[in-house]
Amino acid sequence: MRIGVLTGGGDCPGLNAAIRAAAYRAWMFGDEVWGIREGWAGLLGDGKLAVLTPDDISGILPLGGTVLGSSRTNPARDEGEMRQVEDNLRARGIEALVTIGGDDTLSVSAKLSARGVAVVGIPKTIDNDVPHTDYCIGFDSAVDIVGEALDRLHTTAESHRRVMVVEVMGRDAGWLALTGGIGGGADLIIIPEEPIAIGQVVHHVQHRMQWRQFSIIVVAEGATVDGLESASMAGDVDQFGHPRLATRGIGTRLAEAIEERMGVEARVTVLGHVQRGGTPSIFDRVLATRMGTTAVEHIHDGKTGVMMALQGNDIAPVPFADVLGHNRTVDRRFFRMARAFATTEAAELFAQPGHGHEG
Ligand code: F6P
Repeated sequence: MRIGVLTGGGDCPGLNAAIRAAAYRAWMFGDEVWGIREGWAGLLGDGKLAVLTPDDISGILPLGGTVLGSSRTNPARDEGEMRQVEDNLRARGIEALVTIGGDDTLSVSAKLSARGVAVVGIPKTIDNDVPHTDYCIGFDSAVDIVGEALDRLHTTAESHRRVMVVEVMGRDAGWLALTGGIGGGADLIIIPEEPIAIGQVVHHVQHRMQWRQFSIIVVAEGATVDGLESASMAGDVDQFGHPRLATRGIGTRLAEAIEERMGVEARVTVLGHVQRGGTPSIFDRVLATRMGTTAVEHIHDGKTGVMMALQGNDIAPVPFADVLGHNRTVDRRFFRMARAFATTEAAELFAQPGHGHEG
């Protein structure tokens, strides 16, 4: 059998581990594996794809990024481009595809699948917002980066008695902000699912500074803070219609507002693409290896039109139809749990004289 593999959308640590796993498993079946370059762009025009050999794959397990390259190209916007994708597959005799991507790449996979192409998807995104999977490849590695950044910012924040605003990625879902913020000991976490007013942030910082004289606030780039002026994002969208959130500057605007309203020193750190680069965690490597091998097994079993999902400790197939059209937002119980550590209520409580010391 000839199987094509592509990585689409924003990259993340663990993509190479998934490519390697799919290729190794396919070779064990006696398949030929084709590497498609730069996501769906590699199946447009004359196509950018070639047969992969074990030498192409050897040594890539611990490498960040993707040896295949990636792009946010969206052929589903144009019927002519969808036909080019099919023609390129047919011309090379590629019978099935393993697509490694987030909701956008998976949405194109679903459309191709509905047109009769055998496709199995693998979820990856540091946002961790693909439905029906507990984890997406890349999330665990990115959370570690957020946690390490918060550890480092703690010491300098305390030395200078400053407010540190840390902007992390997360367009529609606050998994990265919430998990990284809890693990790294933030005292306020602001996520897209739970809008907050600037007055409440100021109230929080007042109490927090009264008790500990420094503050670490994590804000997801897609979060809303009512009362902060919104930077214009008109026209700045990608091929799937998503606004480019980095230009929105929520972290910077929040730090400026805190300084203006409170007269305390505030600094902003935008972690940006640092969160997407570098070595994958062992968890991500193992998850990618499990999903990559299982995807190829599903192709051989004729069970395509599905995405591999981590459910509990099992890798299970989920039909594309169940995955599309919505994001997996944060678990409210998880957010409520964080209220004991990272909220205005906690700051108020600890600011009370003698709280927790004399019993
Ligand atoms: O989709 C994943 C993501 O990392 C988002 O969190 C972020 O908004 C976006 O990608 C950034 O994309 P780009 O690579 O185009 O700057």
